[in-house]
Amino acid sequence: LRDAAIGRIKEAVNSAEVEELRVKLLGKKGELTEMLKDLKNMDIEERKQFGQKANALKTELTEIIEGKFKELSVKDVKKSLSSGSNFDISLPGTNFKLGSLHPVTIVQKEIERIFTGMGFNIVDGPEAEEEFFNFEALNIPKHHPARDMQDTYWLENGSLLRTHTSPCQVRAMQKYGAPLKVIAPGRCFRNESTDASHENTFFQLEGMMIDKNVSIANLIYVMKLLLSEVFQRDVKIRLRPGFFPFVEPGFELDLNCMICGGKGCPTCKHSGWIELLPCGMVHPNVLRYGGIDTEEYTGFAFGLGLTRLAMMKYGISDIRVLNSGDLRAMEQFSVR
Ligand code: PHE
Repeated sequence: LRDAAIGRIKEAVNSAEVEELRVKLLGKKGELTEMLKDLKNMDIEERKQFGQKANALKTELTEIIEGKFKELSVKDVKKSLSSGSNFDISLPGTNFKLGSLHPVTIVQKEIERIFTGMGFNIVDGPEAEEEFFNFEALNIPKHHPARDMQDTYWLENGSLLRTHTSPCQVRAMQKYGAPLKVIAPGRCFRNESTDASHENTFFQLEGMMIDKNVSIANLIYVMKLLLSEVFQRDVKIRLRPGFFPFVEPGFELDLNCMICGGKGCPTCKHSGWIELLPCGMVHPNVLRYGGIDTEEYTGFAFGLGLTRLAMMKYGISDIRVLNSGDLRAMEQFSVR
């Protein structure tokens, strides 16, 4: 059977013939399959030997048949190429479109990479947040004027759409305790009327580091490292006092304008500096809400406007483009 089968396969001239042979030899009612049916009439020793041989033959024939298929398909292509038939190799292939990442996503991933490299973990919090985490636990009691700084969307059940990513601070402290190094990127909402630089929906990235002896020097170092990685150059920064109830002292961190090098231009409104991110040392009351021993631990926190950073990095002048879902705009940021 073996020699006859191999001979027949070799003689086949097209793939239809090979397929026919495959069925005849190895198919359900094929010659080899039929032979295996005799197995049940044999004694154990015979059965073993015969079975092994039959299986080896089956593998061998399968390989030969596959080889023949390949050989024939190469021949087929060569033939249709040389016969001048309508196989035109100069026609362009079917083009399929690659998707692209949203610019905010690109910047978020980049920052996540930088911080996880420094041993930070990425945490998350709910977009529909409790009043406690969004305000109370951040040292902003009811009727405190600081609540007016953030126009809140209240929900009917008494919770709210988080106005910043800072509620993730106390959530993370309560869940993991100290020492703690986390970032929390996420969507935030404020009841604002929309224009080129305001949207009711935007992204922030919260960062926090709590340990023994954490100081403002650590804050400055980490911020400088972050910004020089994001902008791929050495950056100059400065701190000004800034007020946020959940940090003390609190700062506004300014970035030296990279367009004019600090001399003054329209981008930095001729001041030489761009107000970039609020930050500060975590207020002891906030640490206490998080269940952290304020005798032993201190920490810094910052709130980076991801949406704004993406606009700066990519020179997008109208924030509304980012939420528009306009693919013509988004496709320009395809990952290469
Ligand atoms: N949550 C503040 C805001 O949205 C920013 C901030 C975060 C300030 C952390 C200080 C520390 O305005």
